[in-house]
Amino acid sequence: MNQEVNSQYTHKERIRELKAELGSRLIILTHHYQNSEIVELGDYVGDSFGLARRAASDTDAEYIVFCGVHFMAESAAILARPGQSVQIPDMEAGCWMADMADPYIVERAWRELSDLWGAESMTPVAYMNSEAEIKAFCGRNHGLICTSSNAHKAFAWALEQRERIFFLPDQYLGLNTADRMGMPRQEVAVWDPDFPLGGNTEKDLQRARVVLWKGHCLVHTRFKVQEIEEVRRSRPEAKVIVHPECTPEVVAAADASGSTDSMIKYVESASPGDEIVIGTEFNLIDRLQQHYRDRTILPLSRSICPNMGRIDLLKLSHTLEHPGQVNVVSVEPEIRKQAGVALERMLDLPG
Ligand code: 13P
Ligand code: SF4
Repeated sequence: MNQEVNSQYTHKERIRELKAELGSRLIILTHHYQNSEIVELGDYVGDSFGLARRAASDTDAEYIVFCGVHFMAESAAILARPGQSVQIPDMEAGCWMADMADPYIVERAWRELSDLWGAESMTPVAYMNSEAEIKAFCGRNHGLICTSSNAHKAFAWALEQRERIFFLPDQYLGLNTADRMGMPRQEVAVWDPDFPLGGNTEKDLQRARVVLWKGHCLVHTRFKVQEIEEVRRSRPEAKVIVHPECTPEVVAAADASGSTDSMIKYVESASPGDEIVIGTEFNLIDRLQQHYRDRTILPLSRSICPNMGRIDLLKLSHTLEHPGQVNVVSVEPEIRKQAGVALERMLDLPG
Protein backbone atom coordinates (compact mmCIF):
# COMPACT_ATOMS: atom_id res chain seq x y z
CA MET A 1 0.00 0.00 0.00
CA ASN A 2 1.57 3.33 -0.93
CA GLN A 3 1.60 6.12 1.65
CA GLU A 4 -1.33 8.08 0.22
CA VAL A 5 -3.59 5.02 -0.05
CA ASN A 6 -2.53 4.07 3.47
CA SER A 7 -3.41 7.51 4.89
CA GLN A 8 -6.79 7.54 3.10
CA TYR A 9 -7.44 4.15 4.69
CA THR A 10 -6.46 5.47 8.10
CA HIS A 11 -8.75 8.51 7.80
CA LYS A 12 -11.66 6.34 6.74
CA GLU A 13 -11.08 3.92 9.61
CA ARG A 14 -10.79 6.76 12.10
CA ILE A 15 -13.99 8.37 10.81
CA ARG A 16 -15.81 5.05 11.21
CA GLU A 17 -14.48 4.68 14.77
CA LEU A 18 -15.54 8.21 15.70
CA LYS A 19 -18.98 7.63 14.20
CA ALA A 20 -19.36 4.47 16.23
CA GLU A 21 -18.28 6.28 19.41
CA LEU A 22 -20.70 9.17 18.89
CA GLY A 23 -23.59 6.95 17.77
CA SER A 24 -26.93 8.74 17.48
CA ARG A 25 -25.44 11.94 18.91
CA LEU A 26 -23.96 12.57 15.45
CA ILE A 27 -25.42 12.90 11.97
CA ILE A 28 -23.30 13.49 8.87
CA LEU A 29 -25.21 15.15 6.04
CA THR A 30 -23.64 15.06 2.56
CA HIS A 31 -24.60 16.87 -0.63
CA HIS A 32 -24.79 14.97 -3.93
CA TYR A 33 -21.81 16.98 -5.25
CA GLN A 34 -19.48 15.49 -2.65
CA ASN A 35 -17.16 12.75 -3.86
CA SER A 36 -18.17 9.14 -3.26
CA GLU A 37 -15.74 8.57 -0.38
CA ILE A 38 -17.41 11.31 1.64
CA VAL A 39 -20.94 10.28 0.68
CA GLU A 40 -20.25 6.67 1.71
CA LEU A 41 -19.21 7.84 5.17
CA GLY A 42 -22.26 10.07 5.60
CA ASP A 43 -25.63 9.16 7.09
CA TYR A 44 -27.71 10.93 4.50
CA VAL A 45 -27.13 12.25 0.98
CA GLY A 46 -29.44 14.79 -0.57
CA ASP A 47 -29.88 17.92 -2.61
CA SER A 48 -30.01 21.27 -0.84
CA PHE A 49 -33.77 21.00 -0.22
CA GLY A 50 -33.61 17.45 1.11
CA LEU A 51 -30.71 18.36 3.38
CA ALA A 52 -32.51 21.42 4.76
CA ARG A 53 -35.56 19.30 5.46
CA ARG A 54 -33.44 16.66 7.12
CA ALA A 55 -31.63 19.24 9.28
CA ALA A 56 -34.99 20.70 10.32
CA SER A 57 -36.44 17.34 11.28
CA ASP A 58 -33.52 15.62 12.98
CA THR A 59 -34.22 15.95 16.65
CA ASP A 60 -31.84 13.31 18.00
CA ALA A 61 -28.41 14.39 16.88
CA GLU A 62 -26.45 16.80 19.04
CA TYR A 63 -23.80 17.23 16.36
CA ILE A 64 -24.68 17.88 12.72
CA VAL A 65 -21.63 17.68 10.45
CA PHE A 66 -22.42 19.09 7.05
CA CYS A 67 -20.36 18.00 4.04
CA GLY A 68 -21.34 20.55 1.44
CA VAL A 69 -20.78 24.29 1.04
CA HIS A 70 -21.11 27.02 3.65
CA PHE A 71 -24.59 28.33 2.74
CA MET A 72 -25.97 24.80 3.16
CA ALA A 73 -24.37 24.33 6.59
CA GLU A 74 -25.58 27.81 7.55
CA SER A 75 -29.14 26.87 6.57
CA ALA A 76 -28.85 23.78 8.76
CA ALA A 77 -27.62 26.00 11.62
CA ILE A 78 -30.63 28.29 11.15
CA LEU A 79 -33.02 25.34 11.28
CA ALA A 80 -31.24 23.46 14.07
CA ARG A 81 -32.91 23.24 17.47
CA PRO A 82 -31.29 24.67 20.64
CA GLY A 83 -28.44 22.46 21.81
CA GLN A 84 -27.53 21.21 18.34
CA SER A 85 -24.30 22.34 16.73
CA VAL A 86 -23.54 22.43 13.02
CA GLN A 87 -19.98 21.98 11.77
CA ILE A 88 -18.53 22.09 8.28
CA PRO A 89 -15.18 20.36 7.72
CA ASP A 90 -13.80 23.40 5.82
CA MET A 91 -15.09 26.90 6.61
CA GLU A 92 -13.67 28.10 3.29
CA ALA A 93 -16.00 25.87 1.26
CA GLY A 94 -18.05 28.77 -0.11
CA CYS A 95 -20.18 29.28 -3.22
CA TRP A 96 -19.30 31.73 -5.97
CA MET A 97 -22.92 32.34 -6.77
CA ALA A 98 -23.86 33.11 -3.16
CA ASP A 99 -20.94 35.58 -3.06
CA MET A 100 -22.45 37.49 -5.99
CA ALA A 101 -25.22 38.89 -3.76
CA ASP A 102 -23.68 41.15 -1.14
CA PRO A 103 -26.34 42.04 1.49
CA TYR A 104 -25.48 45.75 1.50
CA ILE A 105 -25.76 46.04 -2.28
CA VAL A 106 -28.96 44.00 -2.29
CA GLU A 107 -30.53 46.39 0.27
CA ARG A 108 -29.55 49.31 -1.97
CA ALA A 109 -31.26 47.70 -4.98
CA TRP A 110 -34.35 46.97 -2.86
CA ARG A 111 -34.55 50.65 -1.88
CA GLU A 112 -34.26 51.73 -5.53
CA LEU A 113 -37.05 49.36 -6.54
CA SER A 114 -39.16 50.39 -3.53
CA ASP A 115 -38.87 54.03 -4.62
CA LEU A 116 -40.17 53.03 -8.02
CA TRP A 117 -42.91 50.55 -7.11
CA GLY A 118 -43.40 50.74 -3.36
CA ALA A 119 -42.00 47.95 -1.18
CA GLU A 120 -45.52 46.53 -0.62
CA SER A 121 -45.73 45.52 -4.27
CA MET A 122 -42.74 43.09 -4.20
CA THR A 123 -42.02 39.69 -2.66
CA PRO A 124 -38.32 38.91 -2.31
CA VAL A 125 -37.39 35.31 -3.11
CA ALA A 126 -33.85 34.10 -2.49
CA TYR A 127 -32.33 30.92 -3.78
CA MET A 128 -30.98 28.70 -1.04
CA ASN A 129 -27.53 29.51 -2.51
CA SER A 130 -27.26 32.75 -0.56
CA GLU A 131 -25.86 33.82 2.77
CA ALA A 132 -27.87 34.05 5.99
CA GLU A 133 -28.22 37.85 5.81
CA ILE A 134 -29.90 37.57 2.42
CA LYS A 135 -32.28 34.96 3.80
CA ALA A 136 -33.00 37.28 6.74
CA PHE A 137 -33.68 40.13 4.29
CA CYS A 138 -36.33 37.91 2.67
CA GLY A 139 -37.80 36.91 6.03
CA ARG A 140 -38.31 40.47 7.23
CA ASN A 141 -39.71 41.64 3.89
CA HIS A 142 -42.44 38.95 3.71
CA GLY A 143 -40.49 36.75 1.32
CA LEU A 144 -39.15 33.23 1.25
CA ILE A 145 -36.36 30.90 0.17
CA CYS A 146 -36.44 28.35 -2.63
CA THR A 147 -34.23 25.65 -4.08
CA SER A 148 -34.11 24.43 -7.65
CA SER A 149 -36.69 21.78 -6.76
CA ASN A 150 -39.37 24.22 -5.64
CA ALA A 151 -38.56 27.54 -7.37
CA HIS A 152 -41.79 27.41 -9.42
CA LYS A 153 -43.86 26.87 -6.27
CA ALA A 154 -42.06 29.71 -4.52
CA PHE A 155 -42.72 32.02 -7.51
CA ALA A 156 -46.42 31.07 -7.50
CA TRP A 157 -46.63 31.70 -3.74
CA ALA A 158 -44.81 35.03 -4.09
CA LEU A 159 -47.17 36.24 -6.82
CA GLU A 160 -50.17 35.31 -4.68
CA GLN A 161 -48.84 37.66 -1.98
CA ARG A 162 -47.85 40.64 -4.12
CA GLU A 163 -47.73 41.59 -7.78
CA ARG A 164 -43.95 41.44 -8.34
CA ILE A 165 -40.98 39.22 -7.46
CA PHE A 166 -37.44 40.28 -6.65
CA PHE A 167 -35.36 37.10 -7.11
CA LEU A 168 -31.73 36.53 -6.23
CA PRO A 169 -28.97 35.64 -6.83
CA ASP A 170 -29.28 33.25 -9.84
CA GLN A 171 -30.57 34.99 -12.95
CA TYR A 172 -30.69 31.68 -14.85
CA LEU A 173 -32.71 29.70 -12.32
CA GLY A 174 -34.98 32.78 -12.29
CA LEU A 175 -35.27 32.93 -16.09
CA ASN A 176 -35.83 29.19 -16.41
CA THR A 177 -38.52 29.33 -13.73
CA ALA A 178 -40.25 32.29 -15.40
CA ASP A 179 -40.12 30.37 -18.73
CA ARG A 180 -41.53 27.26 -17.07
CA MET A 181 -44.41 29.35 -15.71
CA GLY A 182 -45.10 30.82 -19.16
CA MET A 183 -44.21 34.40 -18.26
CA PRO A 184 -43.48 36.59 -21.28
CA ARG A 185 -39.86 37.74 -21.42
CA GLN A 186 -40.85 41.44 -21.44
CA GLU A 187 -42.20 40.88 -17.91
CA VAL A 188 -38.75 39.77 -16.71
CA ALA A 189 -35.86 42.19 -16.07
CA VAL A 190 -32.28 41.42 -15.04
CA TRP A 191 -30.78 43.66 -12.34
CA ASP A 192 -27.08 44.40 -12.80
CA PRO A 193 -25.97 45.99 -9.50
CA ASP A 194 -23.14 47.86 -11.23
CA PHE A 195 -25.57 50.22 -13.00
CA PRO A 196 -28.25 52.70 -11.91
CA LEU A 197 -31.68 51.04 -12.01
CA GLY A 198 -29.79 47.78 -12.49
CA GLY A 199 -29.05 48.73 -16.09
CA ASN A 200 -32.79 49.03 -16.96
CA THR A 201 -34.94 51.91 -18.06
CA GLU A 202 -37.86 52.96 -15.86
CA LYS A 203 -40.19 51.74 -18.60
CA ASP A 204 -38.58 48.24 -18.57
CA LEU A 205 -39.03 48.07 -14.83
CA GLN A 206 -42.61 49.33 -14.90
CA ARG A 207 -43.68 46.36 -16.99
CA ALA A 208 -41.51 43.81 -15.13
CA ARG A 209 -43.25 41.32 -12.85
CA VAL A 210 -39.99 39.60 -12.03
CA VAL A 211 -36.60 41.24 -11.41
CA LEU A 212 -33.63 38.87 -11.37
CA TRP A 213 -30.30 39.55 -9.70
CA LYS A 214 -27.42 39.17 -12.17
CA GLY A 215 -25.69 36.21 -10.53
CA HIS A 216 -24.83 32.80 -11.94
CA CYS A 217 -23.07 29.51 -11.21
CA LEU A 218 -19.75 29.08 -12.97
CA VAL A 219 -20.04 25.30 -12.81
CA HIS A 220 -23.39 25.19 -14.64
CA THR A 221 -22.95 28.04 -17.10
CA ARG A 222 -19.98 26.15 -18.60
CA PHE A 223 -22.36 23.90 -20.53
CA LYS A 224 -22.93 25.03 -24.10
CA VAL A 225 -25.62 24.44 -26.73
CA GLN A 226 -22.89 23.21 -29.13
CA GLU A 227 -22.12 20.36 -26.71
CA ILE A 228 -25.75 19.27 -26.85
CA GLU A 229 -25.69 19.51 -30.65
CA GLU A 230 -22.61 17.27 -30.67
CA VAL A 231 -24.48 14.70 -28.53
CA ARG A 232 -27.39 14.81 -31.00
CA ARG A 233 -24.94 13.99 -33.84
CA SER A 234 -22.88 11.34 -32.07
CA ARG A 235 -25.57 9.69 -29.93
CA PRO A 236 -28.95 10.29 -31.56
CA GLU A 237 -30.69 7.95 -29.10
CA ALA A 238 -29.40 9.76 -26.02
CA LYS A 239 -31.52 12.01 -23.81
CA VAL A 240 -29.90 15.16 -22.45
CA ILE A 241 -30.91 16.47 -19.02
CA VAL A 242 -29.54 19.62 -17.37
CA HIS A 243 -29.78 21.57 -14.10
CA PRO A 244 -31.85 24.80 -14.17
CA GLU A 245 -28.77 26.86 -13.23
CA CYS A 246 -27.72 26.34 -16.89
CA THR A 247 -28.53 29.11 -19.35
CA PRO A 248 -32.07 29.10 -20.86
CA GLU A 249 -30.53 28.33 -24.28
CA VAL A 250 -28.99 25.14 -22.88
CA VAL A 251 -32.22 24.27 -21.06
CA ALA A 252 -34.20 24.78 -24.30
CA ALA A 253 -31.80 22.55 -26.26
CA ALA A 254 -31.96 19.74 -23.66
CA ASP A 255 -34.69 17.10 -23.42
CA ALA A 256 -35.41 17.93 -19.78
CA SER A 257 -34.18 20.13 -16.99
CA GLY A 258 -34.65 19.79 -13.27
CA SER A 259 -33.21 19.89 -9.81
CA THR A 260 -30.59 17.42 -8.65
CA ASP A 261 -33.30 15.26 -7.13
CA SER A 262 -35.38 15.24 -10.29
CA MET A 263 -32.33 14.32 -12.41
CA ILE A 264 -31.68 11.34 -10.13
CA LYS A 265 -35.33 10.29 -10.51
CA TYR A 266 -35.01 10.62 -14.30
CA VAL A 267 -32.06 8.21 -14.32
CA GLU A 268 -33.80 5.86 -11.87
CA SER A 269 -36.88 5.59 -14.06
CA ALA A 270 -34.88 5.00 -17.28
CA SER A 271 -34.57 1.46 -18.64
CA PRO A 272 -31.49 -0.73 -18.99
CA GLY A 273 -29.64 0.22 -22.18
CA ASP A 274 -30.86 3.84 -22.17
CA GLU A 275 -28.33 6.60 -22.80
CA ILE A 276 -28.51 9.74 -20.68
CA VAL A 277 -26.17 12.69 -20.96
CA ILE A 278 -26.22 14.99 -17.94
CA GLY A 279 -25.27 18.65 -17.56
CA THR A 280 -24.49 19.13 -13.89
CA GLU A 281 -21.68 18.77 -11.34
CA PHE A 282 -19.52 15.76 -12.19
CA ASN A 283 -19.48 14.00 -8.80
CA LEU A 284 -23.21 13.33 -8.99
CA ILE A 285 -22.83 11.92 -12.52
CA ASP A 286 -19.90 9.77 -11.41
CA ARG A 287 -22.01 8.21 -8.66
CA LEU A 288 -24.96 7.64 -11.00
CA GLN A 289 -22.56 5.89 -13.40
CA GLN A 290 -21.41 3.56 -10.61
CA HIS A 291 -24.93 2.86 -9.44
CA TYR A 292 -26.68 2.31 -12.78
CA ARG A 293 -24.15 0.26 -14.71
CA ASP A 294 -26.82 -1.11 -17.07
CA ARG A 295 -27.47 2.41 -18.47
CA THR A 296 -25.02 4.62 -20.35
CA ILE A 297 -24.65 7.76 -18.28
CA LEU A 298 -22.30 10.46 -19.50
CA PRO A 299 -21.39 14.01 -18.51
CA LEU A 300 -22.22 16.69 -21.08
CA SER A 301 -18.74 17.86 -20.14
CA ARG A 302 -16.77 17.37 -16.94
CA SER A 303 -17.64 20.33 -14.72
CA ILE A 304 -16.56 20.17 -11.09
CA CYS A 305 -17.37 22.49 -8.19
CA PRO A 306 -14.03 23.16 -6.45
CA ASN A 307 -15.85 24.59 -3.44
CA MET A 308 -17.57 21.26 -2.79
CA GLY A 309 -14.20 19.58 -3.37
CA ARG A 310 -12.64 21.35 -0.39
CA ILE A 311 -14.23 18.78 1.93
CA ASP A 312 -11.91 15.78 2.26
CA LEU A 313 -11.32 12.82 4.55
CA LEU A 314 -8.62 14.53 6.60
CA LYS A 315 -10.83 17.57 7.31
CA LEU A 316 -13.84 15.39 8.06
CA SER A 317 -11.89 13.25 10.51
CA HIS A 318 -10.42 16.37 12.19
CA THR A 319 -13.96 17.76 12.61
CA LEU A 320 -15.23 14.54 14.12
CA GLU A 321 -12.31 14.44 16.58
CA HIS A 322 -13.71 17.71 18.01
CA PRO A 323 -17.49 17.41 17.98
CA GLY A 324 -19.23 20.72 18.52
CA GLN A 325 -15.89 22.53 18.83
CA VAL A 326 -14.14 23.24 15.54
CA ASN A 327 -15.53 24.84 12.39
CA VAL A 328 -18.84 25.50 14.08
CA VAL A 329 -21.23 27.44 11.84
CA SER A 330 -23.13 30.01 13.83
CA VAL A 331 -25.57 32.72 12.86
CA GLU A 332 -26.25 35.87 14.85
CA PRO A 333 -29.63 35.43 16.72
CA GLU A 334 -31.66 38.18 15.00
CA ILE A 335 -30.46 37.13 11.53
CA ARG A 336 -31.16 33.54 12.42
CA LYS A 337 -34.72 34.37 13.49
CA GLN A 338 -35.53 36.32 10.33
CA ALA A 339 -33.80 33.83 8.02
CA GLY A 340 -35.64 31.01 9.81
CA VAL A 341 -38.98 32.60 8.93
CA ALA A 342 -38.04 32.65 5.23
CA LEU A 343 -36.81 29.05 5.32
CA GLU A 344 -39.92 27.83 7.16
CA ARG A 345 -42.09 29.46 4.49
CA MET A 346 -40.25 27.34 1.93
CA LEU A 347 -40.64 24.18 4.01
CA ASP A 348 -44.38 24.94 4.27
CA LEU A 349 -44.88 25.15 0.48
CA PRO A 350 -47.31 22.44 -0.66
CA GLY A 351 -45.52 19.10 -1.36
P1 13P B 1 -29.45 21.54 -5.51
O1 13P B 1 -30.42 22.53 -4.94
O2 13P B 1 -29.99 20.85 -6.71
O3 13P B 1 -28.93 20.64 -4.46
O4 13P B 1 -28.23 22.36 -6.07
C1 13P B 1 -27.37 23.04 -5.23
C2 13P B 1 -26.32 23.70 -5.99
O5 13P B 1 -25.46 24.31 -5.45
C3 13P B 1 -26.40 23.62 -7.44
O6 13P B 1 -25.29 24.24 -7.97
FE1 SF4 C 1 -22.25 27.27 -5.82
FE2 SF4 C 1 -22.22 26.51 -8.37
FE3 SF4 C 1 -20.80 25.15 -6.57
FE4 SF4 C 1 -23.48 25.02 -6.58
S1 SF4 C 1 -22.08 24.27 -8.15
S2 SF4 C 1 -22.16 25.29 -4.79
S3 SF4 C 1 -23.99 27.13 -7.18
S4 SF4 C 1 -20.49 27.32 -7.20
